[in-house]
Amino acid sequence: MKIPQDILNKVEKLRHELNENNYHYYVLDDPKISDAAWDKMFQELKAIELEYPDLVTPDSPTQRIGAKPLKSFSEVQHEIPMLSLDNAFTDEDVTDFDERVRDRLGETESVQYSCEPKLDGLAVSLRYENGKFVQGSTRGDGMTGENITTNLRTLQMVPLQLRGKDYPAVLEVRGEVYMPKAGFLALNKNAEEKGEKIFANPRNAAAGSLRQLDPNITASRPLSIFCYGVGKVEGKKLPDKHSEILACLKTWGLPISSDTTVVDGIEKCLAYHQKMQAKREKLAYEIDGVVYKVNSIKEQEELGFVSRAPRWAIAHKFPAEQAHTVIESVEFQVGRTGALTPVARLKPVSVGGVTVSNATLHNMDEVRRKQIHMGDEVIIQRAGDVIPEVVSVVASHHAKKEIHLPAHCPVCHSTVEQIEGEAIARCTGGLFCPAQRKESIKHFASRRAMDIEGLGDKLVDQLVEAKLITNAADLFDLSLEQLADLERMAEKSAQNLLDALEKSKKTTLARFLYSLGIREVGEATAKNLAKSYGDLQPLFSATEETLQDIEDIGPVVAKHIVAFFAEEHNHKVIDKLIKAGIHWPKVTVAHKTQALTGQTFVLTGTLSTLTREEAKEKLENLGAKVAGSVSAKTSYVVAGVDAGSKLKKAKEMEVTVLDEDEFLKLLKTHS
Ligand code: IVH
Repeated sequence: MKIPQDILNKVEKLRHELNENNYHYYVLDDPKISDAAWDKMFQELKAIELEYPDLVTPDSPTQRIGAKPLKSFSEVQHEIPMLSLDNAFTDEDVTDFDERVRDRLGETESVQYSCEPKLDGLAVSLRYENGKFVQGSTRGDGMTGENITTNLRTLQMVPLQLRGKDYPAVLEVRGEVYMPKAGFLALNKNAEEKGEKIFANPRNAAAGSLRQLDPNITASRPLSIFCYGVGKVEGKKLPDKHSEILACLKTWGLPISSDTTVVDGIEKCLAYHQKMQAKREKLAYEIDGVVYKVNSIKEQEELGFVSRAPRWAIAHKFPAEQAHTVIESVEFQVGRTGALTPVARLKPVSVGGVTVSNATLHNMDEVRRKQIHMGDEVIIQRAGDVIPEVVSVVASHHAKKEIHLPAHCPVCHSTVEQIEGEAIARCTGGLFCPAQRKESIKHFASRRAMDIEGLGDKLVDQLVEAKLITNAADLFDLSLEQLADLERMAEKSAQNLLDALEKSKKTTLARFLYSLGIREVGEATAKNLAKSYGDLQPLFSATEETLQDIEDIGPVVAKHIVAFFAEEHNHKVIDKLIKAGIHWPKVTVAHKTQALTGQTFVLTGTLSTLTREEAKEKLENLGAKVAGSVSAKTSYVVAGVDAGSKLKKAKEMEVTVLDEDEFLKLLKTHS
């Protein structure tokens, strides 16, 4: 059907007006028309598109919502990693940061910084190709995120088409999706009325809303975004100052925080921190601190990165939020490794808008050190996502009662043991203890482990209590009938869980190792183990000695790993898991072809041309290990000026000692 020209014109005009008004409303914070007028235009456009479906384009303002629910999120590889930031908590941390920056830049005068609020939400990356929004993703682990394009499209302030013409052919914008305070309160109020789940804080609400498979749910949530940087850029050179890049993003239609400013020197950064702290309550969104970034891109490049954070930026956090309340009772929780944590049940109190009724007391040493009793009036604090804790006692009353470590586990009644010199007391029940069983299964199912969607904490509790499972491997024996028979479980959700279990079988060796819950083996260690051993079998026979050749693994971790694989029960569970079909792609073992692999260095004294950190980095880049003390395993001791006891020990043990010149020569020959 031929579409009349006046209709074509009208559609173009409506789309342009709708987009321009969004830009005025969300980016410039200066609305030009009323909400009702906007809605009217929107309805008009919708009506025309209904009549002439051929006119619908993916970037039409009507096409933000309405995509069908996804089965799962696909993965997105970040070509430029999404990094995190180092934290500073005191003014001194901040001035130290500035000193490091100036040292490296050889700058005696002040450095120019961009100061920005640190929003408490979820980091995302928006990819534009030729001005069109083509992909949106979460940060994930920084290298791989989830594709949440359809969800991000539902945010009115995310332009589907960039404004103007001078944007780069490829532009990845980095920003933070957050839920404004008012929207969060309204969402929770509504949920409460309907008896639905309540979010603990705006950050969780934002994250939960973005990770919905059904974009219609995301669309119904009051989400917003601020952009604070760029990733991959192709086809155009951006300005050489961070603040100017932000200004460009704004002209292209992307929302930037209006509280961002540029200052000279670190003193002014500290003043900015104070100003924002005073303003914090009044802001429409939660911030947990501010960020300082070296403004010159050239200087940023010169400074570079250390592991996962740039050297050119730092987050200056606000002090945690505190409140007064009373400890009504104390209970002991048993964790995955049997650790007993005293938890204070509090008279509920609101801390920064969140109701707190439990706080951790960490361990008995802390209880004694802070002289905490039941019945005490205390100060509690909440910092971001961290579990609230008791900071100190304000007043102790007559009715106070001492807190005692129980002699037996409150869950399985096994003996509680506290090893000399360790702060933590543990239940000795091992996997006989239902609490430890539950926690280890929850860990196994968690997102960063086997990622079994829908297997939440409550469900694991239910399954263990109903004796349907005793370990992680039993999960794969569950039948539809068994699951559907559980309370609050319909056939549909039971089937969804079976599907999720099936899906989780395809994993990676690193994830699998992490999910086993070996003590002290976190994600990073699991990745290193996978990289070094390539498969599970060789790990079974690894010794404490060989394990310690791996990055980050010291004697304690090595001991835990060996102990784990020495346990017959663990082998049975692993066998069963593999039989159930858990599998992973082959890992190619990192070939150690670097020049100094297998050599251990100890650094002592001061070098004149390198800091200790730099020397360490250079050695590690060549495959060497840098240890803190001289032992039989030490290959070389590098002795700078004022070398002390380590040099003495090296001489006693007849270890080769290198002076600075010899050391630099060695680096040069191998680089
Ligand atoms: S810059 C390479 N700027 O904080 C620099 N991050 O702790 C990477 N965040 O993952 C981040 N506001 O999610 C930057 N103005 C801001 C920010 C900000 C919030 C978040 C972001 C990041 C995390 C790092």
